[in-house]
Amino acid sequence: MSDFFQMSDIFMFQLPRKIIFGNGAIKKIGEEAAAMFPGQSRALLITDKGVLGAGLTDEATASLKKSGFEVIVFDEVTPDPPFTLVDKCLALARKEKIGVILGIGGGSSIDTAKIVSCMAPYQDGIDAYLGINKVQRPGLPKIFVPTTAGTGSELSHTFVLTDDRVNDKVTSYSPFAFSDISIIDPTLTLSMPAKVTAESGMDAFSHALESFLTVRANPLSDTLSMRGIEVISKNIRKAYTKGTHSLDARYAMCFGVCMGTMAIRSSGIGAVHATCYPPAMKYHLTHGMAISIMMPYVMEYNLPSNLEKYAAIASAMGENGANLSTRAAAMTSVDAVRQLAADLGIPSRLRDVGAKQEDFPEFAKTVVKRYAHHVANNPRNLTEQDILKIFQSAW
Ligand SMILES: [Fe+2]
Repeated sequence: MSDFFQMSDIFMFQLPRKIIFGNGAIKKIGEEAAAMFPGQSRALLITDKGVLGAGLTDEATASLKKSGFEVIVFDEVTPDPPFTLVDKCLALARKEKIGVILGIGGGSSIDTAKIVSCMAPYQDGIDAYLGINKVQRPGLPKIFVPTTAGTGSELSHTFVLTDDRVNDKVTSYSPFAFSDISIIDPTLTLSMPAKVTAESGMDAFSHALESFLTVRANPLSDTLSMRGIEVISKNIRKAYTKGTHSLDARYAMCFGVCMGTMAIRSSGIGAVHATCYPPAMKYHLTHGMAISIMMPYVMEYNLPSNLEKYAAIASAMGENGANLSTRAAAMTSVDAVRQLAADLGIPSRLRDVGAKQEDFPEFAKTVVKRYAHHVANNPRNLTEQDILKIFQSAW
C-alpha cells in the first residue's frame, strides 16, 4: 500500500485501558477483574433476556464468582435504551452498592452499562451526561463483552440512548465512557442470526471504509482501516452462510470489527453514516441495513476525492485492478461493495424498503443540521442539494 497521508499530520488515538481478544477469552474475566479492580467484590451484569437465556453470560458469571465476585443481574435492556430503563438499572446499581459494571450483549447492553457506570457514583440527572464530553469524571470501573460482531461499542466511548420524554435518539461521548477491560471472545458470536451477521457486519465494514476516506484519516487509522476492509470482505460471506459452523470466519469478523472501530476512534466517519440516520429512523431500518443501502451511493459521490484510495479499497476486497486505469480500478470498489451487500441478501435501494421520495428534502435538511460533524469529515464537500441528490440516486 502506498502512503496516502502527509507526514505533517497530527492525529490522536483513544482506546479502552485493556483489550483481551480470542476464543475462550471470556474465561479470564474473573482473574482480570480481580487484578484490575482490587477491593471490589460486587458486579452488576447488564444484559438482555435473549443473551441471558442463550447462556451467553454463564461463563462470565462462573469466572467472576470463582474470583470472589458476587454478580447481580439486570436483564431488562431493550434496543436503543430509553432513559426510564437507565433509571431503573441505575437504582439497582446504587441499591446493591455495586463496584464493577459489566455489560454483556449487543450495543444496547453495552451503552446502558456505559451511562450507568458514569452516573452511579454521583447524583446529577441524566441531562448532565448527554452530549459531547459532558461526562468529565470517572464513574465505576467497567467491563464490556460483545455477543455480536458489528457495533464495536465495546471499544468506543459513544453511547446512544432514547430520550423517551421527546422520543428522540441522543448520541453522546466522553473519554470516561471507555471500558477498563473489553473482552472480545468470538465463540460468543457464533449464534448470531444470519440477518444480524449480514447487517451488523456491513456496518462494521462501513466503519473500516469510511475511516479510510475521511479528512482526518492518518497513518495509524489507514493501517487499521485497510486491514478491516480486507478481513471483513473476505470473511463476512462465510460467517453469513455457515452460521454456527464458522468459528474461523467469526474470529476474523471480530478482528475486522476491532480494526474498523479502532480506526474511527482516530479518523471518524463521514457521509455514509450522516445519510443513514434519517431513513433508518423514518422507515424503522436497522443501522446496518441503512448503512449498507447508502454506502455505494455515497461512495459514487465521493469517488473523485481520492481515486488512489478507492483503488486500494478495491484491491483489499480482492478485485484485480492490475490492467485497469486508477479510475477504473477505483470504480470496481463500488461494484464490489454492491455485490457484497447482494450476496448477504440486503436490499440495494431505498425504494426496496418503502422509502418515499417526498421525504428526501427533509432528510437532507436533517443531515446538514444534525450530522454536520460527519458532513465536515466527509472526503468531498456536501451541500444540502448534494445530499438530496444522493438520496435520489439511492432511491
Ligand atoms: Fe455504524
